[in-house]
Amino acid sequence: MSDSKQAAQSYQEKMVRQREEGKSLMNDVEIHRGDVILDLGCGTGELSAYLAELVGQDGRVVAVDPDVKRLQVARESHGEVKNLAFHEGSSSNFPRMGSETYDIVFANYVFQRIQDKEEAFKNMFRSLKPAGKIALSYGDHFLSGFQKIYRGLQNSEMIELMLSKLYFERRSKIEGMYPLQTSRGIRWPKLQQVIKMSKSKDVAKSYQHVSLFQREHGQKLIDDVEIHRGHVILDLGCGTGELSAYLSELVGQDGRVVAVDPDSYRVEVARESHGEVKNLAFHEGSSANFPGMGSETYDIVFSNFVFHWIQDKEEAFKNMFRSLKPAGKIVLSYGDRLPSFVDKFYRQLQNSESMERMLSKRWYERRANMEEMCSAAGLDIIKSVDVKMDDFEFESVESMCSYFWATNQGRFVSELATRDKVSRFCAQYTSGENSKPLTVYTDEGDYYCVLIAAKP
Ligand SMILES: C[S@@+](CC[C@H](N)C(=O)[O-])C[C@H]1O[C@@H](n2cnc3c(N)ncnc32)[C@H](O)[C@@H]1O
Repeated sequence: MSDSKQAAQSYQEKMVRQREEGKSLMNDVEIHRGDVILDLGCGTGELSAYLAELVGQDGRVVAVDPDVKRLQVARESHGEVKNLAFHEGSSSNFPRMGSETYDIVFANYVFQRIQDKEEAFKNMFRSLKPAGKIALSYGDHFLSGFQKIYRGLQNSEMIELMLSKLYFERRSKIEGMYPLQTSRGIRWPKLQQVIKMSKSKDVAKSYQHVSLFQREHGQKLIDDVEIHRGHVILDLGCGTGELSAYLSELVGQDGRVVAVDPDSYRVEVARESHGEVKNLAFHEGSSANFPGMGSETYDIVFSNFVFHWIQDKEEAFKNMFRSLKPAGKIVLSYGDRLPSFVDKFYRQLQNSESMERMLSKRWYERRANMEEMCSAAGLDIIKSVDVKMDDFEFESVESMCSYFWATNQGRFVSELATRDKVSRFCAQYTSGENSKPLTVYTDEGDYYCVLIAAKP
């Protein structure tokens, strides 16, 4: 039946309404040029082609469907679109599954056809970039209008067969399956529903508000090195740019600061907050790719609490070395292990899966190894020390949770941090749930590291 190419073609013609609704769903999720999108259950690919237009040549769309006939029609109709690729696949098997590749997973009228929805949610989650979004429309029950039409046109055997391929699940249950921080259900007219992940930019904005610890200690670190007017500084992993702006004041109008971060939302927030500063430019980039890399441009490479997020540290050291002027310096703060109070917080308030997800993006390296890599890159170490961590102060329980949410770029799952668990944590490790400020006690042995080194 639906396996024939003819059925696929007639599907292409009849799905006009679904397509229109799919377009409104797209409008609802802010698609940016450059986005990488998975169109799950793409059918004959009309919406995939539309998505490909929206993301432009810098972006791309990966479109999958288990129905090979529909894919054949899709390829015939849209095969020439350069930034669009069709693949046979499903919610349990699609390109780059589990590799944090996609900005958006889009699935229009697909979920009622997926039997194992929990697995589908997990796979989508594992495949989204941090703060990526899913945009779904689905039926959560069999519409009575359709029932009447089916009854009029089909016999009970056919109806049974059709229904056996539909797995309706109520919206409240679907919402409960989504392992994200702030999922929001929006009821649409008719049977459409959308679930959105917390807006990625919200996570970045929240980082800007809660990153006091990073800012205070970053400022101390800056004040610890001699920064001259006229200096050219790279702020590697600049986050939302508060310290970059401070550095740009110190170097004055004759100097300049180049600030890079791989998180495009943080860069966007940084530009909105400090875009008017003349001697400061923000770029999306990383330790493997930044302006002036390899060209002896910088007097200082400053990188505050970033190195434990960098996987290939040897490469990072080499790139910094090649980019420093002779006698230029690197100035780093980093964690060489997970502080034990943070470990306790995660263990008590998260589950093993979310912990694994959070920790999978941190690459702690012991101080001795960091020193070795630094020297191997050709830098002379001036200072390499542990700095004891003082107790953390938060305005309230909520701001404590926001801190862990935002600093983990949205991977901390707030829903898992239930009232009971928070109360238990507060009773054991803080000045008390209702105290203001709320002091979270660090452990005696909690510290972070500072490394300052110079190019000969
Ligand atoms: C704890 S934040 C610190 C941000 C800022 N330096 C501050 O002190 O507020 C760590 C930052 O490192 C960035 N980052 C992660 N991997 C990176 C890489 N390979 N190169 C440069 N920055 C990276 C993250 O996007 C994040 O904004």
